[in-house]
Order: sequence, then structure tokens, then C-alpha cells
Amino acid sequence: MADLLEVRDLVKHFPVKRGVLFKQTIGHVRAVDGVSFTLGEGETLGVVGESGCGKSTLAQVLMLLEPPTSGEALFEGRPMFSLRGNELKRLRRDMQIVLQDPYTSLNPRMTVGDIVGEPFEIHPEAAPKGSWAGRVRELLDVVGLNPEHINRYPHQFSGGQRQRIGIARALALRPRVIVCDEPVSALDVSIQAQVMNLLAELQSEFGLAYVFIAHDLSVVRHLSDRVAVMYLGKIVEIGTEDEIYNHPTHPYTQALLSAVPVADPALRGRRDVIRLTGDVPSPIDPPSGCRFRTRCWKAQDVCAAEEPALIDRGGHPSACHFAEERSVVP
Ligand SMILES: Nc1ncnc2c1ncn2[C@@H]1O[C@H](COP(=O)(O)OP(=O)(O)OP(=O)(O)O)[C@@H](O)[C@H]1O
Ligand code: SF4
Ligand SMILES: [Mg+2]
Repeated sequence: MADLLEVRDLVKHFPVKRGVLFKQTIGHVRAVDGVSFTLGEGETLGVVGESGCGKSTLAQVLMLLEPPTSGEALFEGRPMFSLRGNELKRLRRDMQIVLQDPYTSLNPRMTVGDIVGEPFEIHPEAAPKGSWAGRVRELLDVVGLNPEHINRYPHQFSGGQRQRIGIARALALRPRVIVCDEPVSALDVSIQAQVMNLLAELQSEFGLAYVFIAHDLSVVRHLSDRVAVMYLGKIVEIGTEDEIYNHPTHPYTQALLSAVPVADPALRGRRDVIRLTGDVPSPIDPPSGCRFRTRCWKAQDVCAAEEPALIDRGGHPSACHFAEERSVVP
């Protein structure tokens, strides 16, 4: 089966400028620095990493909201960044995004009906005009909101309900892929589970593929078929849910797993405790060789000299010279 999405060596650097009148570029934020992955039809790829590692930048480039510095992404085999005309329009319907903050991502002066129906205004070819109101009511129903509330405003809804409005809007044009950029991070834990369940139901009903971004490995586990772990603009390990959670080989993945809450109190004491020391280095001047080496307890001289490639080491790709399985959570 051909991949729905194939990302090849994607790079996004932001120039850092100094000076008031004559702006000079003095460096670059290497937000996304050579990221490759594939996404199959109906599949979920979890993307996890600490704040600032480039997750949202990756999402923005994939959604064509920021141009890439270099690299390519293919949607059903077609190069996304050079599409024009009807093909570009089609792509903009096929890929949608749900953002983290349901408070700021919805226009407070628009009714829910206008918010969810706005994609039809932008893409009138997607549905005949007379059908829009009916479609919006259907969409509200699909995400578990009362279709009678179509004329209410965002402030009249709770955080979880607002995220459902954002999801309804993303669904309006019947996309194939939804990029979810931390869609539940701003919600209470109990509400998080409800929204995650909704996303899982919608996925099986509509055959959606998700790129699901989160800070924390625990959030993406149940939804993800595969998981990519990012550190300072790069994927350091990628594999199936089982490979990443039960057979992690990269020290960074192992450290993230060690911080995941364990529900069963009997197992809690048996978890490996790995404490990461130090902060994430600046993406303007990342460490030579392995970017994780300044925080890695296994670092050797070769780690500073040679960048470890993301290649199959012990069953799945891991970017560590000393990749070695360590089961962190029993
Ligand atoms: N428009 C921009 N101009 C300059 N630098 C940027 C821009 N957008 C992001 N960055 C920088 O790129 C790096 C990656 O940011 P990004 O928002 O992609 O990280 P993230 O993984 O989504 O973090 P978080 O978990 O906090 O959302 C950061 O150092 C950030 O400051
Ligand atoms: S390559 Fe070296 S520094 Fe990087 S994760 Fe592996 S052991 Fe640690
Ligand atoms: Mg982000």
C-alpha cells in the first residue's frame, strides 16, 4: 500500500536577525532539521518531544502555513510544496489541523455555526450552498455537541466542548489527514480522555490518518500505531507502539518513558527512574555530533564527533551510537 504522506529530510530554519535599521541575519533557529517519516492511510503517528523540539513547526510546514527551508513531502506520491491550482486546493481540503488552545483558536465573534461552516465558504466546491447549515448540524452531532447550539458563541462552551468545535471544523471538508497539535494539552485530565476517545471513534468512522503531537508519551500511546520521538529538530527514534514503549533503544526515549505516569501502584516502584539533567540546548547552536549528548549518561567521545544516523538498530530506527534496549516501565 502506498503511503498517504511521505516526508523526506524536511528542514525549517528561522533566521535570527539583529539591528534596528539594517537587519542582519546572525544565525538560524534550526527548528526542524532533517525529518523523514511516512504515514499510511488511516494510521496514527504520534510525535513526542519536549517543548521547543520543533513539533509545531513541523505541523505548520506540513499544513503549508510556513514554507520549508529544504526537503520534500509527498501526498499520495505528489510533491506537496509545489502543487498549484486545483491540486493545491484539493490538498488543502485533504489535510486539516486541530490546535492546542481551544480558547484562542476560535474566533470569539463568530457563532459556532459560522466557525464550523467557514471551510465551506473557502471551498464552495466541497458542498452545495443550500446544504451548509444541515452539514454543520450533522458535524456538531458527530462530535457530540447539541446541533441546536449552532447560534451560540465560543465563550458559551467549556474547554472540552470548544475543542469539539475545532474538531468539527477540521472534519467539515472530509479530510484524509488531521494534524493534531497537542489538542488535549490544555484540557483537564478527565476531559482529555473524552476528546481522545472521540478522535479514536472519528478515525475508525472516517478512515482518518492522524499526525498526533504531544509533550508526553503517555498521551499518544493508545491512539498511536507508530511513534516518533523528537529532540532538537530531529527524530531520534521511531517505531511501532510496542517498539517504542516496550523496547526503546534511545536514551532520550528511555528518559521520557521514565517520566510517564504508571497507573498500577504495584508497578510504580519497579519503574526505572532516569532523571534528565540540564536544559534542552539552544536550537540556534545545537551540540556537535549527537544533539542529546550534553544530557546523555552514556555519551562517549564519538558522540561529539559523529552524528548518529537514524537507522535500524535492534529492530527499529534509532539515532544512537550505543542504541540498546532497556525496558523502563514494567
Ligand atoms: N516563527 C518563528 N521564528 C523564529 N523561531 C521560531 C518560530 N517558530 C518557532 N520558532 C523556534 O523554533 C523552535 C521550535 O519551536 P516549536 O514551536 O516548533 O516547538 P514545539 O516542539 O512545538 O514546542 P512546544 O512543545 O512548546 O509547543 C523553538 O526554539 C522556537 O522558539
Ligand atoms: S549517540 Fe551517544 S550521546 Fe547520543 S544518545 Fe547515543 S550514547 Fe547518548
Ligand atoms: Mg508546539
